[in-house]
Amino acid sequence: MAVGVKSRDANAVGKPKQSLTGAVRGHTAGQCLAVAGFDAMNVLLLGSGGREHALAWKLAASPLLTKLYAAPGNPGIAQEAEIVPLDVADQAAVVAFCRDKLIDLVVVGPEAPLVAGIADDLRAAGIKVFGPSGAAARLEGSKGFTKDLCARMNIPTAAYGRFNDATAAKAYVREHGAPIVVKADGLAAGKGVTVAMTEAEALAAIDDCFNGAFGSAGAEVVVEECLVGEEASFFCLCDGVTALPFGTAQDHKRVGDGDTGPNTGGMGAYSPAPVMTPDIVERTMKEIIEPTMRGMAELGAPFSGVLFAGLMITADGPKLIEHNVRFGDPECQVLMMRLKDDLMVLLEAAADGQLAHLSARWRDDPALTVVMAAKGYPENPEKGSVIRGLNAAPPAGVEIFHAGTAARDGEIVANGGRVLSVTASARTVGEAQRLAYEAVDRIDWPQGFCRRDIGWRAVERENAAR
Ligand code: AMP
Ligand code: GLY
Repeated sequence: MAVGVKSRDANAVGKPKQSLTGAVRGHTAGQCLAVAGFDAMNVLLLGSGGREHALAWKLAASPLLTKLYAAPGNPGIAQEAEIVPLDVADQAAVVAFCRDKLIDLVVVGPEAPLVAGIADDLRAAGIKVFGPSGAAARLEGSKGFTKDLCARMNIPTAAYGRFNDATAAKAYVREHGAPIVVKADGLAAGKGVTVAMTEAEALAAIDDCFNGAFGSAGAEVVVEECLVGEEASFFCLCDGVTALPFGTAQDHKRVGDGDTGPNTGGMGAYSPAPVMTPDIVERTMKEIIEPTMRGMAELGAPFSGVLFAGLMITADGPKLIEHNVRFGDPECQVLMMRLKDDLMVLLEAAADGQLAHLSARWRDDPALTVVMAAKGYPENPEKGSVIRGLNAAPPAGVEIFHAGTAARDGEIVANGGRVLSVTASARTVGEAQRLAYEAVDRIDWPQGFCRRDIGWRAVERENAAR
């Protein structure tokens, strides 16, 4: 047994305690808080991006939180949590830390540790975790796995083929013609997808994959039909059985205004996404999310954590582009801005298999976030430039989440591609956009840049409705 075990029960780390939700059937998460007698929580948050700063900010607002730890964190997260020098890739060290600090819940932000199976190791040690098992994380870890699940469960998605060699993949491209989409099967940090407008581009993308451009992630390739429509991000909290709708958003993937230039991790987002009408949400639940949950349970890999479905809303209805097994970044920032309920209650309920008894409530006001990136992003972001103007309080309704920052000699410097996520909430998307850019313009960082048109689709819709 690992050293530093302080729990009273070798199997259950942390204080033996009642579930937050088990005794409170049919109530919202907010109402649960009114019920006295619940124990408070030590939480460990893994990750270091804008997504994790937003999660830390919301967790820190919970009256149920005793102590929040974060690893590896960033200077923004450090305002909400104690940063601990823990290597997230070292699963045994994470388990030992949780035992030592009597951690009640681990919240895993990014996909890589989930695909590596960190949730399995934590659960085997009796530590509660928000996030899927390695087997369930294949929904993001292997695009081919998810496509086969869609085929088996009749989930609407692009027609596809899976290939282990370039010759067969190229034959498929020649048979179907362009536009066509080529994807490395595994995790490629958002870079493994080519939407090819010509056959030549698709053939070159296939060569890139099999020539090792994405390492082992490209050893298998999925080639699929190019879907036409409007994209949206749809989130559900899941507990293995129940999927609770948890908001919609629209991301801006291209680096430049007017959706031009190379793809990025996301340059800005807003929530809710107007294209996700109640009818489309209902169809997405019935045709995509529920069959995914059933299919995973049938495979003996029930999904718990957050399921983030990347959708194309086509003339025939919603189709699945891809599943992710974690919150979107920067979509998470706008969701946290709008969530009324206690995040801790909801995440623990997901980890406990208790979501059937809960709902999530949202502020009516939309939220919008503008990502400030270091010049050169996405290809070659410049690191180390000093960012000033972050100490002044932002305007009311604005939160500045740190993504790729570091502290150096008492100053904040850029330490990654996407550096800040300036997030605003207001009565309309247009007003939130104005507020967010007002806050952006107060930040003194000549080596940074942002898109100036985040939210344009929703603002156009608002203007047309006037
Ligand atoms: P990903 O890096 O996996 O998030 O995918 C990047 C982007 O590629 C998506 O957000 C879509 O814009 C686009 N994409 C992926 N698959 C398709 C598809 N089958 N049809 C059209 N666009 C796609
Ligand atoms: N913003 C898209 C993602 O997190 O994958």
